[in-house]
Amino acid sequence: MKHLIWSNGYNLEFTDIVKAENCYLYDSKGNQYIDLESGVWCTSVGHCNSRVNNVIKSQINDISHTGFCYSNPILENTAKKILKITNLNEGKCEFICSGSEAVEYGMRVAKTITEKPLTLTFSDSYFGAYGEASKRDNDNWHIYNWLDCSCNTKQGGCTGECSEFNKIPFEQIGIFLFEPGSSSGLVRFPSEKLINRIIEKIKSNNGIIVVNEITTGIGRTGKWFGFQHYNIEPDIVAIGKGVGNGYPISITAISKTIAELLKNKQFLYSQSHQNDPLGASVANEVIQTIADDKLVERSKKLGNKIINRLNEIKEANSVIKEIRGRGLMIAIELTKHAEFIRKELLSNGFILVKRPDVEVLRMDPALTIKEPDIDVFLEKFKQIIQNIEHN
Ligand SMILES: Cc1ncc(COP(=O)(O)O)c(C=O)c1O
Repeated sequence: MKHLIWSNGYNLEFTDIVKAENCYLYDSKGNQYIDLESGVWCTSVGHCNSRVNNVIKSQINDISHTGFCYSNPILENTAKKILKITNLNEGKCEFICSGSEAVEYGMRVAKTITEKPLTLTFSDSYFGAYGEASKRDNDNWHIYNWLDCSCNTKQGGCTGECSEFNKIPFEQIGIFLFEPGSSSGLVRFPSEKLINRIIEKIKSNNGIIVVNEITTGIGRTGKWFGFQHYNIEPDIVAIGKGVGNGYPISITAISKTIAELLKNKQFLYSQSHQNDPLGASVANEVIQTIADDKLVERSKKLGNKIINRLNEIKEANSVIKEIRGRGLMIAIELTKHAEFIRKELLSNGFILVKRPDVEVLRMDPALTIKEPDIDVFLEKFKQIIQNIEHN
């Protein structure tokens, strides 16, 4: 791999993964690994899902790419599906290429409409590798440190009853960019109380709610979307990762009201691969597979089982500090040794991810992972933890 730039900040562990199926990866010698992070949280219905692969083959034989003045019916059909699961019926969708772009697109739409200067977001939220949202300058953002205020309860963060909350300049805030379950922030879920307080203030100041569902969407947290754990109606929803099952497609969905407001503005956004039929056909099939196989419900059930079992292991072992999770979006926080545990798991065939700077392991398997594979993983994890405790 001499000629490859590997700039993502993580170690390159394998250079010859040549085959994949569901949660299994195989190297050229036939060794099997269980991918418990689904390729950076993307392969929602498993690597090389046959339904999705068949749709790709069929669509590329018909038409994969279009231009600025012609389209294909699959776009409209998929848009309707997206709007239904986001509860944005009568809204509109734009199909683009990455999670970063879906958030960027949503922010550009919101910024076109609002006349207020600031966007409110949480200190641990992540929005992408580039664009408007990757900047956090004081002229455009109010970053709320919801994890470090006087009313912060250990588990749920701020409840909105503190002096920090009262300092949020709501009258200047036009947009609330909300990640309903921090991903790079290591799986933390703001309390309903805090979100209700914020949304009430934002709405009463005619603000726009943009939700970043890149990681939390498409069944990952045991509902179609992370915002559905809260009693809120967003104006704009950015969707990525799991909707493409590894194919680079993302979607920004906007409400009917936002679409109406946008009509009166000079809003332009164009790139070569927007609203392409191939990506839309993938998204369509992923959503249909998840619906047909009841994978949202499965994510909730299996997630609860894993979280309960991990908590049992935690009770008996002080090296585990905290288990956080919703559905199949799970973090295991350790007091120490996270890198050692990751390596031990890897040498036993389990792929989990650890960000270099924290003692946290992430688990976000495909919603299709087989239960026996989870059981074997939990047993191996327990053994590794017990060995650490006893040495
Ligand atoms: C919460 C969140 N938003 C946005 C992104 C950016 O998505 P992408 O890497 O597909 O551009 C990521 C990527 O990890 C993410 O976790």
